[in-house]
Amino acid sequence: MNASSLALPDYRQQRPEVAARFQRIKERPVVLRIEDLAKHFGSGPAARTVFDGVSLDIHRREFISIIGASGCGKSTLIRIVAGLEEASAGRILLDGKPVSGPGPDRGMVFQGYTLFPWRTVKENVMFGLEMGGMDRSTADAEARQWLEMVGLGKFAESYPHELSGGMKQRVAIARALANNPRILIMDEPFGALDALTRCKMQGYLLQIWRKVDVTILFITHDLDEACFLSDRIIVMGANPGRIIEVIENPVPRPRSVEQFLTPEFLALKQRLDDIIHAPGAAEAEEKLPVVKLTEAGDEVE
Ligand SMILES: Nc1ncnc2c1ncn2[C@@H]1O[C@H](COP(=O)(O)OP(=O)(O)OP(=O)(O)O)[C@@H](O)[C@H]1O
Ligand SMILES: [Mg+2]
Repeated sequence: MNASSLALPDYRQQRPEVAARFQRIKERPVVLRIEDLAKHFGSGPAARTVFDGVSLDIHRREFISIIGASGCGKSTLIRIVAGLEEASAGRILLDGKPVSGPGPDRGMVFQGYTLFPWRTVKENVMFGLEMGGMDRSTADAEARQWLEMVGLGKFAESYPHELSGGMKQRVAIARALANNPRILIMDEPFGALDALTRCKMQGYLLQIWRKVDVTILFITHDLDEACFLSDRIIVMGANPGRIIEVIENPVPRPRSVEQFLTPEFLALKQRLDDIIHAPGAAEAEEKLPVVKLTEAGDEVE
């Protein structure tokens, strides 16, 4: 608790329209159920629990963000959801059916640019469609529509190296959405972008999400980004990883950058900051060895 938090409302306080929206969300079907999930790496004395007892229901068209200290298992968790990693215990249900292995029903966008450099922007978006058996001319038309949706229709014939970082990520989003996934899984997708581009991408993502029937599971380290984008925010702690709190975002929709300084936004951000920096939330700080790199004398230590 610091002086500024005294003047802020309780982050759990919701205006009637926000409370009504959460009520409607809860009445929607559960798209993704994470059931008592655990992940251990290694065996014997080297065995390590990354997280355990993680359970969560995500409703159709909900926007969920996960935040938490580095190493608490966020990426591992969503890699299991994506089917890229196996759970040690528990299970993942998509539309009520257990998932095993990756599938087109889950789209992924990562921080690193994962486009095929030898394919044009349009061919990148067509890739999954053709893999799924769609004929080339239909895939071509579909890809063009998705590129229009992310505002890159004019760049259909360009190659990835001709695009900026933000544009590449928009192609990655178009490519993931073209397969019509039930859930879009995003692991720090804007983490490598400069602040201004990042802010624009957040706006684009909300616009796209409003037009498409897709549920989003989004990992970020950026508290503003989590407050700006999400319906609910999942806060994870480390050692072992677990869910500390699930917060219903009190900031009304539609969102705009002007809301960054509203009392609800600041109260939510303050709460996230308090939990993330609480003792025990993060991994014990590693003691780094002292390595002397200069001859400058004792003061360098
Ligand atoms: N293949 C693996 N083998 C062994 N340990 C692993 C493996 N993958 C991840 N881990 C460990 O699991 C823990 C969680 O990693 P993960 O990448 O899920 O964390 P994170 O919350 O996404 O962190 P960050 O915020 O830094 O991206 C880390 O301690 C990591 O070393
Ligand atoms: Mg990660």
